[in-house]
Amino acid sequence: MAIFPSGPASFAWYKPLLGIVGALALLSVVGYLLAGFLKGRPNPKTIVVNDDPRLTFPTPFRNVYPEVMYVGDEACVACHPVQSESFRQSPMGRSLLPVSNVAAQERYDRKSNNPFEKLGFLFQVAQRKGKVYHRQARKDPQGYAITEHEDEVAYVLGSGNRGRCYLFNREGYLYQSPISWFSGKQTWDLSPGFEDRTLSGRPIRADCLVCHCNQAHAVKDTENRYESPIFEGYAIGCERCHGPGELHVKSRQNGDATEEWDNTIVNPSRLTSSLRDAVCEQCHLFGQYSILGRGRQAFDFRPGLPLHLFRSVFVAAPGARTEDKDISQVDQMYLSRCFRASRGQLGCISCHNPHDRPSPDKKEVYYRNQCLQCHQETGCSLPPMVRRQKSKEDSCIACHMPQAPLAEIPHTASTDHRILRKPPKAAPPRSPLVPDPGKSLLVNFYEQLLEAGDLDADRDLGIALSEFQGRTRQAARVAAQQALTHLEPAVQRHPDDVGAQEAKAWALWLLDRPYEAVVTIEASLKTAPNRESTLQTAATFAEDLKQQQAALEYWRRLVEINPGLPSYRSQLANLLALQKDWPAAIQECQVILKIEPANVGIRFLLVQGYLRTGEPARARAEFATLLKLRPDNGEALRRWFEEQHR
Ligand code: HEC
Ligand code: HEC
Ligand code: HEC
Ligand code: HEC
Ligand code: HEC
Ligand code: HEC
Ligand code: HEC
Repeated sequence: MAIFPSGPASFAWYKPLLGIVGALALLSVVGYLLAGFLKGRPNPKTIVVNDDPRLTFPTPFRNVYPEVMYVGDEACVACHPVQSESFRQSPMGRSLLPVSNVAAQERYDRKSNNPFEKLGFLFQVAQRKGKVYHRQARKDPQGYAITEHEDEVAYVLGSGNRGRCYLFNREGYLYQSPISWFSGKQTWDLSPGFEDRTLSGRPIRADCLVCHCNQAHAVKDTENRYESPIFEGYAIGCERCHGPGELHVKSRQNGDATEEWDNTIVNPSRLTSSLRDAVCEQCHLFGQYSILGRGRQAFDFRPGLPLHLFRSVFVAAPGARTEDKDISQVDQMYLSRCFRASRGQLGCISCHNPHDRPSPDKKEVYYRNQCLQCHQETGCSLPPMVRRQKSKEDSCIACHMPQAPLAEIPHTASTDHRILRKPPKAAPPRSPLVPDPGKSLLVNFYEQLLEAGDLDADRDLGIALSEFQGRTRQAARVAAQQALTHLEPAVQRHPDDVGAQEAKAWALWLLDRPYEAVVTIEASLKTAPNRESTLQTAATFAEDLKQQQAALEYWRRLVEINPGLPSYRSQLANLLALQKDWPAAIQECQVILKIEPANVGIRFLLVQGYLRTGEPARARAEFATLLKLRPDNGEALRRWFEEQHR
């Protein structure tokens, strides 16, 4: 998964962004045994290779096992009122909520840029009877609506620190609205990365929610379908950092906690450094590609376990960075001298305690105290007197962790976590990537923690490389070539590993080996006949190879699996039209227009459909709407319409 599809629409030759879900094989636990920690569960013989790390990873914490249940935040309040309240108030404790919780506090006035115009549409946020609707309309020059569409918003994602986006629930499928709130400017505007073809909403995958909600019940093999109730707890909850609470609550209620420290619940501050940091990194580490291990699901990770046994995060190899994307607080902290020289003593929780956030007026003092846990006041090259001239509180962070304005696209650090001696100068411009086929384009963020010959990590690297978006075809081909060297053995080891199969198919496709690509994707459909991303891949291949009938069948299955996603139906409608099955094509068009009434391409198709099926009056009415949607092209459109009659 490339986490943040942004920037220009993907080039036709590289792989569209599809969710890749896979699994995990050989575990590298020996390194952890050697690395120390871990007094309990001492019997390494019980470790089963190629198994669930929640069962096999040696740890004294008993709540990492899959059978230990999550109990929800309410279960903790009575005994931990202080921590519960402090966390609930923090941004993470408000990361996702039903929209009814915030509707009354939101702004809907003109000063907040409501309504606003973008991409030829008028967007508007409206509140009616406690419900919130996001609307988009095309208006004629007199201001009358040509087309209108609205969705009832169900959830708000984001506490509003930087901004908020909104989710709606289209019959069990979650979509992100094209309208977002931007806190910096205090305005409504188009959601980052949205364009014409995503205006009816972008599918929201579990991969996205895993960092923003407590738990979501995603339906396996689908892009954005969820079981009801969709969420268990809305905002990030206690158990995402402390692990499932069932055992702890029981043992504390029974008063049978006898250990000198409590092994039924994880306190991150008791973990060894890399495990401690993994608790935060499950959500704060982005990388360029984040690949779920074979057989793992998005929410499988549990605090106390190493993250890399669940997912692999890849960053560009030195010299192979293709984008000037800023990096996360995690990447930056790892670059800092404080982190490297303290040998892991410095972690996120050296400075941040989710239960003790400083108020804005106390933050200078608060963070200064954190620095002074390791530094002397005199450790700074500047004498205190001089420092106090610049900052009367002698704020270490004012000089060493300067803050850029909060970015609109929220997934980059704004506070400089590299903790530099001197504020950075502007980065030198990046030269275009000239890939070296002999060197991997991507490296595993957790390289240091991997066992030599970790085959799971190797498989994940193959998948990440198959998704590589170098801006040139040459780079993509080099990546695809590299991907194959990892994926071919991975698929041989585990023929049922659909994620690896699908990635291999894409790599073959990029290398102009389409028939092998098709054979590969068909094999993976045998394993997982209804996996949405695999079907999309198969449909795309078939269509490009002009295998109309096969493509049609695939799109039809996709429409059945995800009926509310207009792009599948559009593909289907176009193929039906090509096959002159006009009645069926018309039906699809009508459904699409309910969701995307301003979809010009579909209206064109509909005009043709009505003419072919002998309904000239409806064709004319449809054509009249088309003319209004494309007023500049009147002349050409009329000519086209005339031609259709012949
Ligand atoms: C019946 C009371 C009770 C309930 C319910 C309860 N706890 Fe505790 N918990 C305690 C007591 C007592 C301690 C030990 C004293 C302390 O640290 O407050 C403790 C300790 C902890 C610790 C620190 C452990 C350590 O090793 O430092 C964490 C973390 C924790 N609880 C989290 C939770 C979470 C999360 C929940 C809800 C899922 C929860 N507790 C529910 C009573 C409870
Ligand atoms: C389940 C995912 C998740 C985990 C685990 C997580 N975070 Fe966060 N964190 C987020 C999200 C999402 C936000 C943004 C919340 C918002 O504003 O809506 C955030 C915001 C923050 C912020 C900025 C807001 C503030 O509180 O000042 C800090 C600092 C932070 N996290 C630190 C941590 C630390 C430290 C840990 C580990 C102990 C951690 N996070 C674990 C997802 C997570
Ligand atoms: C790997 C975890 C991760 C994934 C995946 C992720 N986010 Fe985030 N997101 C974060 C964290 C952490 C923050 C807070 C970062 C900060 O403040 O520096 C954040 C911040 C945000 C914010 C701003 C919240 C606020 O209160 O200011 C929005 C909106 C957002 N993300 C939307 C999304 C959407 C939509 C997706 C999926 C398409 C997504 N994110 C995927 C981790 C993630
Ligand atoms: C984003 C991660 C995160 C979440 C979510 C979180 N905690 Fe914590 N919690 C921590 C960390 C980190 C510590 C250790 C703080 C320290 O000692 O530096 C901690 C410590 C604790 C402790 C030990 C006592 C203390 O204050 O040090 C308790 C009890 C606790 N948390 C309860 C809860 C409860 C209850 C919730 C949910 C309402 C919760 N936590 C949510 C990260 C989290
Ligand atoms: C967990 C311990 C720890 C904490 C907390 C910590 N540092 Fe450091 N820091 C170190 C160590 C160790 C070094 C390396 C010292 C050396 O090289 O002798 C260092 C080095 C530095 C340097 C020199 C950087 C360079 O590139 O040479 C600066 C500046 C610095 N720290 C500032 C801070 C500031 C400001 C804070 C608080 C926001 C902070 N540190 C918090 C451990 C820490
Ligand atoms: C040496 C201290 C220090 C360490 C270590 C540290 N942070 Fe921060 N962090 C800060 C400071 C200072 C701020 C700015 C706080 C403010 O302005 O309110 C900040 C801000 C943030 C924010 C808010 C967005 C932003 O960029 O300003 C997030 C999210 C965050 N930190 C996450 C993390 C995570 C995750 C880690 C561990 C990888 C981490 N931090 C480690 C000091 C630290
Ligand atoms: C007014 C700005 C300012 C403030 C405030 C400040 N520093 Fe510095 N600090 C500097 C400068 C400038 C340097 C030297 C950079 C250079 O020329 O190498 C430095 C250097 C350092 C170094 C590296 C020392 C060495 O010998 O390598 C450390 C560590 C450090 N500061 C820690 C701190 C801590 C801790 C605080 C807060 C108590 C702090 N600084 C406050 C500006 C500041």
